Amino acid sequence: MRDRRLILTRNIAVNEIPIAIDVSKEELGEDYLAEKDFLETINTPSAFCKVITYNRQFAGFAICQVFGPDKVDKMLHLPDSPGKDKLLSKEKIGLFDAVAVSKAFRRLGLGTELFAACNSEFSTREVDAVCAMAWKSVDGTISTEGILRRMDLTPQLEIPGYWNQMVDSPGGHDCPICGRPCKCSAVLYYKG
Ligand SMILES: CC(C)(COP(=O)(O)OP(=O)(O)OC[C@H]1O[C@@H](n2cnc3c(N)ncnc32)[C@H](O)[C@@H]1OP(=O)(O)O)[C@@H](O)C(=O)NCCC(=O)NCCS
Repeated sequence: MRDRRLILTRNIAVNEIPIAIDVSKEELGEDYLAEKDFLETINTPSAFCKVITYNRQFAGFAICQVFGPDKVDKMLHLPDSPGKDKLLSKEKIGLFDAVAVSKAFRRLGLGTELFAACNSEFSTREVDAVCAMAWKSVDGTISTEGILRRMDLTPQLEIPGYWNQMVDSPGGHDCPICGRPCKCSAVLYYKG
């Protein structure tokens, strides 16, 4: 049983980046995030990274981006669609970019807490839409589906093979579930 008093969320510190990278490699794949992806979230209006600890142990992280409609293509690589049009009509968009909780700490509500902490940071930064590209595994599972639904984000469109275009690796993304190239999809979730 989890004890809520043991859960803490805060902005990442530079000395936590190596452990965050370890969690990322394990949960999102070896080639998905590098040190610079975390460094670029520190002290900037255009991004932030929240970490969550349980009983003082590092349990997971969430990288989020904040951007305007001019960056929708660069950030999201979406095909023309009503979902993309919704984003293009907004002034300031918050993106749940990369979220991972270490397997040892799963199903304790830490993922839910991380998303909630990021959502309140989005409110502080006055975004007028929130979105996520949710990982839909080859077996059809979207592990963030319940969290996103409870936060009133709704699915807009699904893009097969999406993660291969989000990494520089030759041969595509090295997925921790299905290998290289990744055969999983992404589903755009949106609230605005
Ligand atoms: C998604 C993730 C962050 C959830 O973390 P968590 O701490 O277990 O989350 P919670 O305890 O708050 O549980 C939230 C929900 O996730 C579900 N869940 C957690 N791990 C899961 C898994 N591996 N497969 C399916 N569902 C999972 C829980 O059952 C719960 O379901 P519900 O919302 O329908 O009640 C975590 O599973 C993870 O890091 N997954 C791998 C990376 C990933 O998918 N990142 C998101 C990319 S969009």
